[in-house]
Amino acid sequence: MQEIVDRVTATDEAADIARTLLYPYLNHAATMFESGYATKDDIDAAMRFGCGYPIGPLDLIDAVGAGAVADGLAQIHDNSGDQLHVPAPLLVRLAASSGTFAAEAAGAAEQAPVAHHPVGKVGVVGTGTMAAGIVEVFAKAGHDVVFVGRSDEKAQAVQARIEKNLDRAIAKGKLDEAGKSDVIDRLTAATEREALGDVDIVVEAIAEDLDIKLELFSDLDRICKPGAILATTTSSLSIAQCAAATSRPADVIGMHFFNPAPVMKLVEVVTADATSSEVADTVKALCLDIGKHPVSCGDRAGFIVNALLFPYLNDAVLLHESGVEMDDIDDALKATKLPMGPFELLDVVGNDVSLAIQRTLVDAFGHEGWQPAPTLEKVVAEGKLGRKSGEGFRTY
Ligand code: 3HC
Repeated sequence: MQEIVDRVTATDEAADIARTLLYPYLNHAATMFESGYATKDDIDAAMRFGCGYPIGPLDLIDAVGAGAVADGLAQIHDNSGDQLHVPAPLLVRLAASSGTFAAEAAGAAEQAPVAHHPVGKVGVVGTGTMAAGIVEVFAKAGHDVVFVGRSDEKAQAVQARIEKNLDRAIAKGKLDEAGKSDVIDRLTAATEREALGDVDIVVEAIAEDLDIKLELFSDLDRICKPGAILATTTSSLSIAQCAAATSRPADVIGMHFFNPAPVMKLVEVVTADATSSEVADTVKALCLDIGKHPVSCGDRAGFIVNALLFPYLNDAVLLHESGVEMDDIDDALKATKLPMGPFELLDVVGNDVSLAIQRTLVDAFGHEGWQPAPTLEKVVAEGKLGRKSGEGFRTY
């Protein structure tokens, strides 16, 4: 921890780069906490378990000192004139009183969630990276999983991807052949949604397109048994709108997994106004049961992680546009113990996905300073989507 604080507060150029990108992110986390959108524990856990950060943003402010962060932001604001860089009122108050977010949040600990009904069989809709990862997570945790793809080929590709991951685990001595067979035996591939009739929960991870999701939710409402939980892993669309496409809005909820799903421990559990507290508790208990860490969020674009992460990634692109080398930016952030530099992460997430999320955040929050960086727009227009297309900010 002291190593991170020393790096963030150092006086060299790399530390300057790190502060330029990290302090606005810390300010945003402070604003998110102050607004009551999420608890301190959930904000900190979200960035640790969703992005592999060594320390959550509010704990990092406490470690660096609210005064140092507020002063750093004031300097950034002097140069940028951007309202987003004005220190959050709570940060200023803590700076003046030498207070901490830990003390502000004291006593707010949540009770452990209790499942209100058992969740055995799981359905997953989709065959992309996230869907495959989610199938793997549930099957490894002992659940029977039916997954539905639009074609046999796509469903088989999910099966093959999971087998490859299991083989990798065997090669590392973390699994044996019997364990692999157990996981494979729990998987059922399907091409018809009717196969979801008897599952206790469906998690959908199909295209991020509202019309496509609404058609799916209305169909799940027709197919799934009464009491089945209908979950979406959307990162940007409204849970309330998905719920409104069904006759059972109390059973509809968000379960936002992170990439790569088998590795990242976070699930953002997103409740809309109509979501019942029993369903929310059941889903949180389920997350713990499958080895994930649930955090609670309201139905707002970006939830916790994407709202904090993507403006920071966009700022990295803007900083590069101002003349700082990509490698210098990635190295400066990794020196503060982030697992990946911003350009590495953009290429992993996909520049098209990142651009779409950033646009949604601008729509939801209206911050001009979050407008997508021109270079992010450009790489997407050129088809340089990241690792998945062989080229993004870097070539693979
Ligand atoms: N699938 C399955 N397992 C994988 C994997 C994958 N794609 N990638 C890595 N792994 C496993 C490895 O097998 C290894 O497992 P083991 O410890 O059991 O052997 C473990 O993950 C660690 O892998 P490595 O040691 O090879 O690699 P790293 O130490 O470099 O860690 C990382 C990889 C965990 C991905 C790390 O770089 C990290 O935390 N990166 C940050 C990722 C991030 O920020 N994700 C969030 C993106 S935003 C998002 O998803 C939201 C959405 O809405 C866009």
